[in-house]
Amino acid sequence: MTRLLIADAVAPICSEILGRTCEVVTRTGLSEEELIEAVGDIDALVVRSSARVTERVLAAAPKLQVVGRAGAGVDTIDIAAATRQGVVVMNTPGGNSVSTAEHTIALLFALARNVVSSNRSLRSGRWDRKKFVGTELRNKVLGVIGLGKVGAEVARIARGLGMAVIGYDPYLPQDALAGVKRLELDEVFAQGDFVTLHTPLSAATENLVDERRIALMKTGARLINCARGGLLDEAAVAAALESGKLGGVAVDVYRQEPPETSPMFDLDQVVSTPHLGASTREAQVQV
Ligand code: MLT
Repeated sequence: MTRLLIADAVAPICSEILGRTCEVVTRTGLSEEELIEAVGDIDALVVRSSARVTERVLAAAPKLQVVGRAGAGVDTIDIAAATRQGVVVMNTPGGNSVSTAEHTIALLFALARNVVSSNRSLRSGRWDRKKFVGTELRNKVLGVIGLGKVGAEVARIARGLGMAVIGYDPYLPQDALAGVKRLELDEVFAQGDFVTLHTPLSAATENLVDERRIALMKTGARLINCARGGLLDEAAVAAALESGKLGGVAVDVYRQEPPETSPMFDLDQVVSTPHLGASTREAQVQV
């Protein structure tokens, strides 16, 4: 019988369905060494974003045929090594895109209306209504970097809020998304009142938001990252918040998860959540 290891926390329906045809073992929170030990006789592996399927893990799994990623991003899997070894890597794009888009919108509102900082202030005994004057979203420009399933859903919701949506995507045909004005990457950074990132992490997108791109942005612009931590040069972002160049940043994802520390964590204008984009009951069942 096929032996399948579930190495990350996934919805119980995953083992229910796969358990009909496979012998399912669930072991989560494993270190790389522990995962290496666990995969010796495994034919199939299911992961989310915590378990890292490195070249060493793959080499320790001679029977492995398939890695299933319960989610979209496959940056935690060494695809080149898997391909060399003849291991198929499958993901589930779309299953969690509405949830991730809705979390992005939640962070967009949180930034626009100072939800987190005013909550913190109120709880510490202050009643500071003047300090937390917000901004309406209607008629503001939202720049969407990456117009795949999540980016397109964010754009759709934002248009419903009356925002002007501009976007960049190097793969999507220019006329593919009605109502989104397509621009070059730097133009989206330059014109957005809010800019939200929805691209995978790759050599081409690492540190996409760096000092040069931040300099292009409007003073006081706000940034949202529900995609991957490595897209931001965190030191550059923190410096831009401190100088007032950026008005606020919302982050759900980190270069290292969980993050030990970040130059952004101490700043009041930062809203941070622990990689919750896909964490809804619906998305977890779908992926
Ligand atoms: C994804 O890549 O789809 C998400 O990061 C999923 C997750 O939260 O594991």
